[in-house]
Amino acid sequence: MDNVRKLAKEEGVFPSSDFMPGKSAIPVSGKVYDSDELCSGINAVLKGWWTEGIFTENFIKKFSSFLNVKHVIPVNSGSSANLLAFAALTSPLLGDKRIKKSDEVLTVAACFPTTVNPIIFYDCIPVFMDINIPDYNVNVELLEEAITKKTRAVFLAHTLGNPFNVKKVKELCKKHGLWLVEDCCDALGSKYGNDFAGSFGDVSTFSFYPAHHITAGEGGAVVTNNDLLNKIILSLRDWGRDCWCKTGHDNTCNKRFNQKHGSLPFGYDHKYVYSHAGFNLKWTDMQAGIACAQMDKLSDFIRKRNHNFKRLFKGLSKFGKYLILPEKEENSVPSWFGFIITVKDGVDRTELTKFLEKHKIGTRLLFAGNVTKQPYFKGVKHVVHKNLVNTDKVMNNSFWIGVYPGITDEMIDYVIEVFGEFFKKVQ
Ligand SMILES: Cc1ncc(COP(=O)(O)O)c(C=O)c1O
Repeated sequence: MDNVRKLAKEEGVFPSSDFMPGKSAIPVSGKVYDSDELCSGINAVLKGWWTEGIFTENFIKKFSSFLNVKHVIPVNSGSSANLLAFAALTSPLLGDKRIKKSDEVLTVAACFPTTVNPIIFYDCIPVFMDINIPDYNVNVELLEEAITKKTRAVFLAHTLGNPFNVKKVKELCKKHGLWLVEDCCDALGSKYGNDFAGSFGDVSTFSFYPAHHITAGEGGAVVTNNDLLNKIILSLRDWGRDCWCKTGHDNTCNKRFNQKHGSLPFGYDHKYVYSHAGFNLKWTDMQAGIACAQMDKLSDFIRKRNHNFKRLFKGLSKFGKYLILPEKEENSVPSWFGFIITVKDGVDRTELTKFLEKHKIGTRLLFAGNVTKQPYFKGVKHVVHKNLVNTDKVMNNSFWIGVYPGITDEMIDYVIEVFGEFFKKVQ
């Protein structure tokens, strides 16, 4: 592996760290890695196994012990994780607790679309509630009012790493017998009270796309403490099969040719018995290899993200006349994904983001803004609870900039300086 490290250096694989204000890009996010990831990924290639194997097993151990959760099911993306999490709740194996067509699911419209899409795919009705500014999470006062006889679940993301009010949401789910799905795609390492985001929901999801806290190129995970849900998620992920043999194993159940399933003939090979309408959403062991090396850096990544967030917050506080800065949820320690800003009346968001981009400072909107206004949502059955006033405000006036670990103090100081230049212009 010494050759890999040497080659990576010679080939200039690692980006240069020299920052030139106004010339070097300050992206909103990006991969942070070194030769550890390259060696671990290549080791997985050299093993010659490639589908789930020892690197995946190692990753599962690392991820479950970090989050303190019982089951981790790696998948090929955060969107797949969301799809599986929701699909699992529709499984016939859940009996009366199963989510069915036309059931309602409480969520928010200021979202990433693939948090909401699984609800639509299963012909359920997303019920959209408004969010708060400046924490950008659901307004929990609206939750109980929005519950009807048809409500079966709450499906919410921790917006940009800022945990939602877990206490209130959990209380209501318990009181009304609702499932809770936590989308933690942007919140790996965020804490509410003493526990990590992802350990509160019946099912929770993560993304390992390069923008996220750790990356595997593509990838994600579903986590749960519920044994039955784990079994269902594995079945759905792996073609819908009833068999639970690991790749490369046969007859784990010891009854491979001795069972009756559905209307199939007795003894039909268990390997080809399907108890769900499933998918194939698995990842590869090469992704696991890369993700294992990233896990060893996770604590440092979280520290650096939060350091960057604080430095930006301090520096931008002087522009309070123009900007609303983000606030964390009480009782939480976010692992920030991005630094979200809402411009106050009199400031044009597009002018500001164009100015920042001209100075090579990357900006992003809060994903779909108000998802009900997206082209694909035309004709999609949904309910808006009361109104989405703040959601629309975010769609029109908010954006976020980066805090990822590749951003240095020097870059942040430059970002703050550029904001200053913009506000000098608008005065
Ligand atoms: C909140 C949230 N959920 C889900 C996803 C989807 O993750 P992926 O890109 O891995 O499919 C994203 C993507 O960034 C996200 O921000």
